Amino acid sequence: MDEKDAQQTTDTTVISTSPTLPAKKKFDPAGWPFFIKFSIGSLVFYAVEVAYQYYILTTQDVATSIVRGSALAGTTLIAAALFSSAVFRWVPQWAQYWHIRRYLGVAGALAITAHVLGVSYYYLGFDYTSLFFTLNPVENPMLFGVIGFIIIFAMLLTSNDKAMRMLGRNWKRLHKFVYGAFAAIILHFTLIRADTAMNAPRVLLYVMTALAVFGQLYWFFKTVYRKRFRSVGTVVGFAIIISFLILLWAGLNR
Ligand code: HEM
Repeated sequence: MDEKDAQQTTDTTVISTSPTLPAKKKFDPAGWPFFIKFSIGSLVFYAVEVAYQYYILTTQDVATSIVRGSALAGTTLIAAALFSSAVFRWVPQWAQYWHIRRYLGVAGALAITAHVLGVSYYYLGFDYTSLFFTLNPVENPMLFGVIGFIIIFAMLLTSNDKAMRMLGRNWKRLHKFVYGAFAAIILHFTLIRADTAMNAPRVLLYVMTALAVFGQLYWFFKTVYRKRFRSVGTVVGFAIIISFLILLWAGLNR
């Protein structure tokens, strides 16, 4: 179930209220109080990730702290958004809380925008010629990041009700690109890693990524089996999985 389906389910849900009992305060992720709390929570998470790089993992290096802190915070949030999609399908009565997935995705995309701006400013000095020193992504995993960023940014711009109405059925088509984008992002951060040191932000990212991948694969194979392997989605899904494995193998053995 995606954001659009979940929204329709919510719109038609009838909440029964008893006139005799005092109204119980309802958890409402669509309201402003939740939005404000979520925004503060995401900012704190982002600040902790950058501060962890600055005070604990580097010798107070601003550039690396911003670039890596933003990358790790953003990717963890995007993985959490993807995992929430699977959770909403496992527990359909939670699908009414689909706003949480949108907020996680938007917060993640904003942090990734900071990552890309950080790389552009600190590493490249806004000179993008070195970014494209070769167009072979196995040799140059930053290209996987470029592909991921184009898709994530398009999703960020269209993650609002107005864009959803304007794009109609194309909205769903566009947002399905997230699966390909996530595969590119995993290749990007697996192959680009400057060092192999394990630390708390990386462990958190890998755990969240593993959960997101497990959830996506679970529902992909369940849907494929239900449709008896006869749908365009099946072909695209298998193409993504096989390309991902080949590129990962080539990248790790380069
Ligand atoms: C224009 C696009 C992008 C460029 C040029 C780029 C560039 C880079 C660079 C240079 C690094 C290494 C940083 C370092 O070790 O100091 C890096 C790491 C990373 N990037 Fe990107 N990136 C891009 C897009 C993305 C996107 C879209 C995502 C995820 C949604 C992402 C997630 C990450 C992650 C998780 C790391 C690894 C951090 C670590 O483990 O230390 N990047 N990127």
